[in-house]
Amino acid sequence: MLPCPDLRSGDIPCYIYLMKPPPAYCATCGKLLPIPHRTGRKPRYCFRSGACRQKAYRRRVKAKRSAKLQRDRLIHLQQDSFEWYTPQKYLRAVRAILGEIELDPASSVQANRIVKAAIFYDLTTDGLTKTWKARTVWLNPPYCKQGNTSNQAIWTAKLLREYKARNVKEAILLVTSATETTWFHRLYPYPMCFVKGRIQFTTPTGKKGGATKGSIFVYMGTKPERFRQVFGRFGVVK
Ligand SMILES: C[S@@+](CC[C@H](N)C(=O)[O-])C[C@H]1O[C@@H](n2cnc3c(N)ncnc32)[C@H](O)[C@@H]1O
Repeated sequence: MLPCPDLRSGDIPCYIYLMKPPPAYCATCGKLLPIPHRTGRKPRYCFRSGACRQKAYRRRVKAKRSAKLQRDRLIHLQQDSFEWYTPQKYLRAVRAILGEIELDPASSVQANRIVKAAIFYDLTTDGLTKTWKARTVWLNPPYCKQGNTSNQAIWTAKLLREYKARNVKEAILLVTSATETTWFHRLYPYPMCFVKGRIQFTTPTGKKGGATKGSIFVYMGTKPERFRQVFGRFGVVK
């Protein structure tokens, strides 16, 4: 055992000093590190060059930055993926077929300034919890997912239920061209317009954003010829 260098007569011996500390390894390169003789504190990095400490610091900064980026992207997705409003020219075409839009079940105060539906539901009134009793319905459902199910699947199924129950007499639906999905396959019996190019939707701040996929208008009602005539200028109607 080594005598403690700071021990004076009458002092209680420093047992901590006498204990052998466990081996320490550099957190960056993994090399065995010598324990400083005096302090007995375990070092974290190779202390001669400082390169390992710097490397660890840079790695921490990078991890923090990418975590923030991911957080921001998620917030952006959650807020913005709901708020993509339909451009005026398509709504004019919708009105040319339906006349007045009686109900827009997925909307907001700001979106309805352009849609001009007589009744609309928003996030607080929750259109999914209501019965859609209306002569005409316009639906551009929110994007992204609720758990594992896509919002488009949920809203499309709801519209089909309401239309088949004859609560809705006539409707136009705007969805992305997820032509391979089960929910989209349920729409094939209805006339569809496959839009040429990508629709430039508008956000609440006025920013325009192109859809990342093609879009399709689906018509449910008794005027398929009129739909073909009006929507034919946006793309192929099948
Ligand atoms: C893609 S935007 C379409 C807005 C508008 N109908 C249009 O065509 O421009 C979908 C809208 O549905 C709203 N929304 C999301 N969940 C909803 C819910 N549960 N009930 C009613 N509206 C909802 C969003 O806030 C958003 O304004």
